Amino acid sequence: MSEQESIGRRVQSRIYREGLFGRRPVVPVEPQLLERAARKKLSRRAWAYLAGSAGQQRTDAENRAAFDDHPIVPRVLVDVSSRELGVQLLGRRLPAPLLLAPIGALELAHPRSDVELAEGVRELGLPMVISTQGSRPMEETAATLRDCPRWFQLYWSSDDELVESLIRRAEDIGSDALVVTLDTHTLGWRTKDLDLGSLPFTRAEGIAQYVSDPVFRRLVEQRVAHPGPTTEPTPRPNRSAVAAAVSMARHWPGSLKDNLTSPLPRAAVETFLDVFSRPSLTWDHLPWLRERTRMPILLKGVQHPADAARAVEHGMDGIVVSNHGGRQVDGAIASIRALPAVVREVGRRVPVLFDSGVRSGADVYKALALGADAVMIGRPWVYGLAVGGGAGARAVLEYLLAELDLTMALTGARTIPDIRELGLGQVES
Ligand code: FNR
Repeated sequence: MSEQESIGRRVQSRIYREGLFGRRPVVPVEPQLLERAARKKLSRRAWAYLAGSAGQQRTDAENRAAFDDHPIVPRVLVDVSSRELGVQLLGRRLPAPLLLAPIGALELAHPRSDVELAEGVRELGLPMVISTQGSRPMEETAATLRDCPRWFQLYWSSDDELVESLIRRAEDIGSDALVVTLDTHTLGWRTKDLDLGSLPFTRAEGIAQYVSDPVFRRLVEQRVAHPGPTTEPTPRPNRSAVAAAVSMARHWPGSLKDNLTSPLPRAAVETFLDVFSRPSLTWDHLPWLRERTRMPILLKGVQHPADAARAVEHGMDGIVVSNHGGRQVDGAIASIRALPAVVREVGRRVPVLFDSGVRSGADVYKALALGADAVMIGRPWVYGLAVGGGAGARAVLEYLLAELDLTMALTGARTIPDIRELGLGQVES
């Protein structure tokens, strides 16, 4: 890519040209302004879920602040007139080392959720990691992505057959990899959601992969056919409870009218809450998964180098260093601080991906300089989706790519491998 056509210059010039006509970017460029714009657009409930983290939000804050402890020392007089952002990852050429992190319940950010996102971002060609908590069945999202790469993220259900079914479907939609998220076998203490008494899944938001799954639907039907003893008395319905019941009915396939009088939608939520996760999962379960798919498997939520080493020993194909954006353990180490030790331990045997706290192209650069092979972007594009739909999510990703590209130019890195080689450029003082 020459300087003239580099994404950095292209996006920058487009914005400044528009500025001559008095037009400012609809989707703010500055990360804090973007966050504020999203907050304005969203209901309190949506904001709490999308932006909220665990406890006092300390790990979320640390995730971002810790990037400040890793300054870049730029190099000069390097011919950077042409730059290349492309990388090879798990056997596929990608236009840049960026992926869209799996994000559940996207209908809170935009009514068309995953499909709106897929439509907006597919031309960038960056892999979208489709979440188990998607708001649209993965088949619809994948069809909308066309030839844009997709991966699938798995929450390992307590029901083996359901896990097998989800994996089969992920293979059928052409997923290039399976990302198994390990840090959310139990939901963290999400204070902002708790204070609103709000969890999307209890209204059937973000359970589209389940209600569209034949194995899950059978579990729901069995539950309705053989109801267990009810332990708690049902309180008299009020407006909120009616709204929740309507939401459940809307999310169950079929006509809303029929669903409103059917026991299935509520049973679906209860079944989901029962089978969502498996807190008893251990390393011993990994061979079971390995036998069931040919997709490369990556473990997401690794922070300790000893766990990274074990993942490699267990034949895993990659690691995602992540703390779920600080949504699980308040007080957990900032993800960027955990990265170098994991990279050292893994020693290039498998790719190491990174997420949590990345808000800018410079942050992406730092993660790559510290040894990540690729970076997953989470909340920034969610905010873009809230502010400007699919085009908004795309705009945010373009800003990140543009800043990464310009940072490379300004630090003396022509290619992504150059970033790793240069590192952060620190010198002994
Ligand atoms: C997530 N994340 C997540 N991870 C996952 O494996 N499956 C999922 O369904 C979700 N859902 C989800 C929803 C929301 C609203 C957020 C903010 C995050 C975690 C996500 O993949 C990623 O690890 C974090 O978003 C990274 O943190 P930052 O950079 O967004 O703060």
